[in-house]
Amino acid sequence: MSLATINTVVESVIDRVERAEFLDGPADKVAGLVNKWLKPGPIKDVLSGTGTGHPAHPIIVLLPLGSWASAFYLDVAAPNSDGTAARRLINLGNLTAVPTVLTGLSEWADTQGAERRVGLVHAALNLTAIALFTGSSIARSGNARRTGVVTAALGMAAVSASGWLGGHLAYARGVGTDTTAFEVPPADWTDVAGEDEVSDKPIGVDAGGVAVLLIRANGEIRALSDRCTHRGGPLHEGTIEDGCVVCPWHGSRFQLTDGQVARGPATRPQRTFEVRTVNGRIEIRPSDDPGSLRSEPVTGADARR
Ligand code: FES
Repeated sequence: MSLATINTVVESVIDRVERAEFLDGPADKVAGLVNKWLKPGPIKDVLSGTGTGHPAHPIIVLLPLGSWASAFYLDVAAPNSDGTAARRLINLGNLTAVPTVLTGLSEWADTQGAERRVGLVHAALNLTAIALFTGSSIARSGNARRTGVVTAALGMAAVSASGWLGGHLAYARGVGTDTTAFEVPPADWTDVAGEDEVSDKPIGVDAGGVAVLLIRANGEIRALSDRCTHRGGPLHEGTIEDGCVVCPWHGSRFQLTDGQVARGPATRPQRTFEVRTVNGRIEIRPSDDPGSLRSEPVTGADARR
């Protein structure tokens, strides 16, 4: 079977999962419970990775995956050893799976629709893998090493399938990615509103196809990207608290002065804009960007090369 055929089969499976509306009932119930117990605040920030600037789940997942994969390697490469090292690695994987599950649950609870359905299957496969590796550890402790090796191999299969779904969520669906990463506002000063339209209540305006929030705070007009970097919530519909705008979707707070994250679950700051007033009109332009595909997208003739 060619790689292209395998890819077609896999894509068709993922498409079915993404459209499986019957998963919405259980998924929404579990996500509701997670969100009931895990409100925006310090614990959610830790589980989200807010302080590190990147989601925590893809980082911490290396611990159980690395431990289990190393144990699997030892089972294959050193079948005649006494198995102590492999058993210890499996136990380490099982232990570190606990915080990994918590970070995943936190991130997943803020998804919707197809992402939430795929995330539910991803989680179910992970729980299956954890159960198999736990069984492997118990079997090895009871001197049933052969059973332990087989259950660990099944665990590796489950966690590999789950990892593929996790990759799909991150790279195809953009879960965990800054939702403004590919927004390209006009580089030059752009007229967006009349000065008298801007007050201490945030408003949303358009700058060449990019949504921007405008507000007057402490006598100065501030302009931030209106699309929340977390999952894209419209910030101008949020509230203002302590010099921050609070996202109406999951409660992330961004400082009005510089767009920095004051509270998660967001991990990335909001883009900010320079503001000037010309003849009673507000003009904005992006603050400095070091240059990337984000600021210099390939278009037109370049794209066809
Ligand atoms: S979209 Fe989740 S906090 Fe804004």
